[in-house]
Amino acid sequence: MKVFYSVSEFRSWENQLPVIFVPTMGALHEGHASLMRAARRPGFASVVSIFVNPTQFGPNEDFSKYPRTLDADLEVCRQHGVDAVLVPEVVDIYPVNDATMVKVGGVAEPYEGAFRPSHFDGVATVVLKLFNIVQPAVACFGQKDLQQCAVIQQMVRDLAVPVSIEVLPTMREDDGLALSSRNRYLSTESRAKAAYLPHVLKECLRSISQGLDVPKILDSSSQALANNGFEVQYLAWIDPLTFEPQAKFDPRFRLVVAAKFEGVRLIDNIGLQDLDLVSIEKA
Ligand code: PAF
Repeated sequence: MKVFYSVSEFRSWENQLPVIFVPTMGALHEGHASLMRAARRPGFASVVSIFVNPTQFGPNEDFSKYPRTLDADLEVCRQHGVDAVLVPEVVDIYPVNDATMVKVGGVAEPYEGAFRPSHFDGVATVVLKLFNIVQPAVACFGQKDLQQCAVIQQMVRDLAVPVSIEVLPTMREDDGLALSSRNRYLSTESRAKAAYLPHVLKECLRSISQGLDVPKILDSSSQALANNGFEVQYLAWIDPLTFEPQAKFDPRFRLVVAAKFEGVRLIDNIGLQDLDLVSIEKA
């Protein structure tokens, strides 16, 4: 496995194969591993980037304490047969006196966009830069960050970026909690209680799919979460193409949620097909 610590080193890599790319911020877990498995295909080279992107963190967010576990991350990449890893420095991605950012409108504005102003500007900017550096044929993202996927798809369409975006299912713990690098901020006790979030999502979705009144169900589910120590930022039933809220059941729509639990911000989303997931059933 090649490891490149700068963009110029990466550009000198003599790879002839089309690339399948998995951009990450490190602190790799089984969710990332599932993307790496998807990226390993005959006739393609797989590339992972590890870069904690400063521009997608707000001033009061966890950029400085975001877990940095490079040695373990490289081992995960090695175990998954990744061909090359790019680990650039901040100055390599954001040259001194840079003055260009990508701003996506529409799908980037509500929910995560409203609670984390400028977050998606940072995501779109770094992802476009990484695409320009890596020049992948395909890029893989996890559905756990549903709105991020929509923002990247919008950007790729709008800016005619020659890459195909693949969105892969959320990986979950046995009790249903979606895997996230930030789960490691939870104490053992909070971690156990956090599984109430996917449990409520599942119940909420079940009620919506039975044709019950959507705003009422969203309200009572938010209340149930609040009664169990969750500070709900949003719980919404949306069309994943537009991120507009919906009042009626449609099998394409998804429930999205963001809630803080004991100071840790958790996001998740589920759709009808996820109700079959065994791990969610256990919650
Ligand atoms: O999902 C992430 O880990 C990040 O937002 C990404 C896509 C690697 C951009 O920094």
